Amino acid sequence: MREKIVAGNWKMNTTIREGKKLTEDILRGIESVPAGITLVVAPPFTHLSSVSGILKDRNTPGLAAQNCASADKGAFTGEVSAAMLASVPCQYVILGHSERREYYGETSEILLEKIQRALENGLRPIFCVGEVLEERESDMHFQVVSSQLREVLFRLDPDDFKKVIVAYEPVWAIGTGKTATSEQAQEMHAFIRAFLAESFGDLAESTPILYGGSCKPSNAAELFARPDVDGGLIGGASLKADDFLAIAGSFA
Ligand code: PGA
Repeated sequence: MREKIVAGNWKMNTTIREGKKLTEDILRGIESVPAGITLVVAPPFTHLSSVSGILKDRNTPGLAAQNCASADKGAFTGEVSAAMLASVPCQYVILGHSERREYYGETSEILLEKIQRALENGLRPIFCVGEVLEERESDMHFQVVSSQLREVLFRLDPDDFKKVIVAYEPVWAIGTGKTATSEQAQEMHAFIRAFLAESFGDLAESTPILYGGSCKPSNAAELFARPDVDGGLIGGASLKADDFLAIAGSFA
């Protein structure tokens, strides 16, 4: 069976105190999450150590960063390296989020560097792909997503590819309250899996493909019921412990 994952991307929200409380609230309700579901939280960099201290000795939630540097180390003021994240310890890093691509100019070339740094340091990348509204409306979404996958993931060795988690996040659904229908999600997830199989064969059967974009307790069950939707990357709704737990509890 494929891994099921629900990851909370806190983005640039919460103070350290609020982030610690959110973590504690999640742990308090964690019994409600069915066995076999991996929870992951992705707080801002500044919170990682404190949150890691709270999660110590637990299998779940795992800890993710929201970004890492493309360089190894050195004179890169303001950057945070994959080795630093691994030393927290984080187990995951979100890469290629549309906000990073759009606001910080992260290209496939940069993202390939970042993914390589993450993998060298034992971090599992949660690699985000997705089209903007105009691309969907002009029927370009499959082409856009396949380019995003080809330019980065196809450059990896199969052993590295095995560690990657993919998140399909249609940009028009992120933070807009407008979710992709479960048909649209399933169609794209199945496409992504088949496309990955062109390069990685059977390994693509085991790749967790998460859906992201206005996923909430009221729509998670329908999305997660689809055969190629292996969980979610949750933004806004991950900032409320009850909503995050309810989403994680939505697997059939
Ligand atoms: P959202 O964000 O759930 O707030 O739409 C998802 C994401 O950007 O990862």
